Amino acid sequence: MSDTTAQPKSATKDAPSKPNWWRQAAVYQIYPRSFADHNGDGLGDIKGITARVPYLKELGVDAVWLSPFYPSELADGGYDVADYRDVDPRLGSLADFDEMVSALHASGIKLIVDIVPNHTSDQHEWFQEALQSPPGSAARDRYVFRDGIGPDGSQPPTDWQSVFGGPAWHQVPDGQWYLHLFAPEQPDLNWDNKDVHEDFIKTLRFWSNRGVDGFRIDVAHALTKDLSEPLPTWEELRHLMHENLPLDGTHPFWDRDEVHEIYAEWRKVFNEYDPPRTAVAEAWVPRPRRPRYASAEGLGQAFNFDLLEAAWDASEFREVIDDNLTLSSESGASSTWVLSNHDVVRHVTRYGLPQDPDTKNGKSWLMTDGKEPKLDRELGERRARAAVLLLLALPGSTYMYQGEELGLHEVGDLPEEAMQDPSYFRNKGVEKGRDGCRVPLPWTPDGASFGFGSNGAHLPQPGWFADVAVAVQENDPASTLWLYRRALEARHKLQSGEALEWVDNGNAEVLHFARPDGWQCVTNFSAQPVPLPPGEVVLASVPVDDEIPADATVWLKV
Ligand code: BGC
Repeated sequence: MSDTTAQPKSATKDAPSKPNWWRQAAVYQIYPRSFADHNGDGLGDIKGITARVPYLKELGVDAVWLSPFYPSELADGGYDVADYRDVDPRLGSLADFDEMVSALHASGIKLIVDIVPNHTSDQHEWFQEALQSPPGSAARDRYVFRDGIGPDGSQPPTDWQSVFGGPAWHQVPDGQWYLHLFAPEQPDLNWDNKDVHEDFIKTLRFWSNRGVDGFRIDVAHALTKDLSEPLPTWEELRHLMHENLPLDGTHPFWDRDEVHEIYAEWRKVFNEYDPPRTAVAEAWVPRPRRPRYASAEGLGQAFNFDLLEAAWDASEFREVIDDNLTLSSESGASSTWVLSNHDVVRHVTRYGLPQDPDTKNGKSWLMTDGKEPKLDRELGERRARAAVLLLLALPGSTYMYQGEELGLHEVGDLPEEAMQDPSYFRNKGVEKGRDGCRVPLPWTPDGASFGFGSNGAHLPQPGWFADVAVAVQENDPASTLWLYRRALEARHKLQSGEALEWVDNGNAEVLHFARPDGWQCVTNFSAQPVPLPPGEVVLASVPVDDEIPADATVWLKV
């Protein structure tokens, strides 16, 4: 049995010394099944990550966020967890995990792991027990079971739709229904049940004791629910998502105020450690509701996905930056800047599409396999280089997604038979799904699966991966990989306080700001070159002379 009580502070192994290490960290997201395959089964694994720690060190990241690596049937790419305190045998063992933690820490890299508290897998022992137990039993109370409606209960309790499409309720053989906000294989937990609270605390201590430095909390705004009658219809709820959620916490399942009681409980656990364990909320809530998730009494940080949702447009970027710096001053946390993750179309591709509201998230393009509207690959790459320099100059932490350092485009033309994402299957003809950003990384220009592993990859890789493989870019100082390495290195040297001051330049399409100690960042969003402001050029997303070309960023030391 593993120890899940907190260890005394002095016994915490490899503890990074500074409690505020996360405030301005560059965090690299690893989607483990698609990063590096050590055992040649086509799925990335833990030993694959350990073998690539020198790559991460050279890249210059401060921390790794590891998406779920737990035992899972992969109904939702690992976000259907069958056992929260183990490693999927296809990905390795707990011993492999410990070895990876030591290797990361020895290279000065912290580790954040994903916690999925809204739902388990339907293969989790609790759900299996619930299925074998009668309605009203203690085992069923850990989930959200309800009787159906209609004379024989054959209708689901509500007409709600799941996030991935299709009904949000699934019927079990004895006639009861259970709630699943995501796939049917992901039954929602009942956070009014004390076993659920106790078990997650055990899980947080289990990984903290193994040296994990922080946690990313999946759909952090979903856990608590109010299913008291009368329940709203789907017609009443369906537009109440993300920015449109009510500001008073009255939605029956998203962003209820009671969820913060859970995070206050978790905060006490995080603070048992030295330094305290960190956490970041994935909470798709309106901006004014974010600071509570990010407060020091709660999770401590919350994702800001506003730049990920913004078009390549100076005024949108400026508004998002201003708003989020204000929100950070309210919560006391630093902000979190994100352009891509495993759930969205890669930003290199988004930026190569027309920047209008219908196509900016790239979904309509995916439905046409990139034929219409036409993707300008080079423009996307150029803007993405400019964008990352802008992000890395902002105060706060930056979360990068594996492959963006290679300037990887979305793989938009995966064949139907390769698809894995439930959002594709449950939404056919509407959603292309998220597989296109999850294709295993190219490490070498040739070889089976471009160096990902020795025996193929679980999603097919396109031929153009040969041109963008790590080994190719390592030999090219003009590559995006070199730009990321240089930027991360320079950022460590340049970064001091968290202040940002705008420099007025009289051009609304140019964003120019100053950080402490003379570090300045200028991004030209326009299609015309603009004059280079005075200062020494530290780094630029494209070659510059006395002008900054279109769609480019420059770092200056003034
Ligand atoms: C994760 C997704 C996942 C969903 C359900 C998210 O927000 O990032 O990948 O499908 O939660 O767990």
